[in-house]
Amino acid sequence: MQANRSVYIETYGCQMNMADTEIVLSIINKAGFIRTETLSNADVVLVNTCAVRDNAEQRIIGRLGDFNHYKKANPNVIVGVLGCMAKRVCKELMELGDFVDLVVGPDEYRKLPALIDAAVSGEKGIAVKLSRVEKYDDIDPFRTDGFSAWVSIMRGCDKFCTYCVVPFTRGRERSRSLASIVLEMEDLSRRGFKEVTLLGQNVNSYSDGEFDFADLLVKVASVDKKMRIRFMTSHPQDMSDKLIDAIASRNNICNYIHLPVQSGSNRILELMNRTYTRDQYFNLVRRIKKNIPDISLSTDIISGFPTETEDDHKITLDLLQEVEFDGAYTFKYSPRENTKAWRMGDDIPEEVKNRRLSEIIELQRNISLRRNTTIIGNTVEVLVEGLSKKSANEFCGRTDTNKMVIFPKNGDNIGDYLGIRIERVNSATLFGTKTGYALPQLAMFTTKED
Ligand code: SAH
Ligand code: SF4
Ligand code: F3S
Repeated sequence: MQANRSVYIETYGCQMNMADTEIVLSIINKAGFIRTETLSNADVVLVNTCAVRDNAEQRIIGRLGDFNHYKKANPNVIVGVLGCMAKRVCKELMELGDFVDLVVGPDEYRKLPALIDAAVSGEKGIAVKLSRVEKYDDIDPFRTDGFSAWVSIMRGCDKFCTYCVVPFTRGRERSRSLASIVLEMEDLSRRGFKEVTLLGQNVNSYSDGEFDFADLLVKVASVDKKMRIRFMTSHPQDMSDKLIDAIASRNNICNYIHLPVQSGSNRILELMNRTYTRDQYFNLVRRIKKNIPDISLSTDIISGFPTETEDDHKITLDLLQEVEFDGAYTFKYSPRENTKAWRMGDDIPEEVKNRRLSEIIELQRNISLRRNTTIIGNTVEVLVEGLSKKSANEFCGRTDTNKMVIFPKNGDNIGDYLGIRIERVNSATLFGTKTGYALPQLAMFTTKED
């Protein structure tokens, strides 16, 4: 086998895909491939793809055109398509042109070194089977040292929301063992990581046969009390009181829950197979806010689901008003072939979807601004992430409630915890100045039981 060939990899989609790229890099690194950040010296080009909405796929298909060009100029280059799109449209990808050598789905990454070698000898490879057992548990993800890491705790999804491709692209739900996750956490702590995000399509249904997600959170949070623990995504149906108590019980479990509601209308929720009603969602939010008063909540909303009426839309707006999320990710419904919703048609005209989407965004912007305004004058604990996008004299970082904070750079380092007094805000960002380091009065450095 040739040593030290270089591999260039681009990642699209959700954090699970980012974490998978680290698995892929680890697998092919062992086979002698070195990562390169520049396409122009790559021997192997990999694209880890997302299939969740049509616009995600179109963007990737556009980018594949660039790789086609690159391969024309460098015929020995191997081009591989990985991830969710690889699973969803493997045949179409192979037919896109001669330049695609490999199509490898999310559960078959162990085959990559062999498939790349076969491709070098001119053999194209497709490996897109889903597995009920693959968890990549024994693979140490290829991470560059930093302050923040993703840890996949499970794979797949069993929820089958009617609009969603994920159960088809990633297969059945399976959880890693608590012991292996704790080992990974201990390693991250030794390496100086300050923040870990536990990942799964629905972390609330984590179960390794013995322990549930609440057990896991508490265990993981006690590995290193100076490490912030984040997690996503939480499905409302599986958010137990035990889990809410677990979040409330540890200061280093962040006061932030991403809790997608998707719609405020019971009729649409049922058509989406979300398995909860609007009232059940309200009840859940009430329980969360009561037990974790400082909680920050965000959500996902889909606008223009098949048959969505103006009334359905209005009660979604009404739900946003009532819950007062700190933020919302909003999407126009995108029909995905072979899902149940695909068969419901796509009857909401584009301009109606657009208008509803802007109404949702506009309302949420006002709510986020209102929520952020209440923080003015408070000192918040911020984990420094790096330079702000807009100025080399400013740093950015996040509060434990996942709010972005911008403040003057003042001799501090990435990964430091600072106290920042908030002076002004907009709907997306807080602005302030440093009051000190790792202030002991800030909750993070004690646990409630200490
Ligand atoms: N497991 C997570 C993430 C799934 S994908 C969850 O359940 O929340 C992230 C978001 O994309 C979903 O929450 C949903 O709001 C959106 N989404 C998924 N499929 C979609 C589709 N076909 N059209 C538009 N938005 C979609
Ligand atoms: Fe898709 Fe629903 Fe699973 Fe989320 S919970 S990944 S939206 S099927
Ligand atoms: Fe996309 Fe697959 Fe994630 S479809 S959102 S990359 S699970």
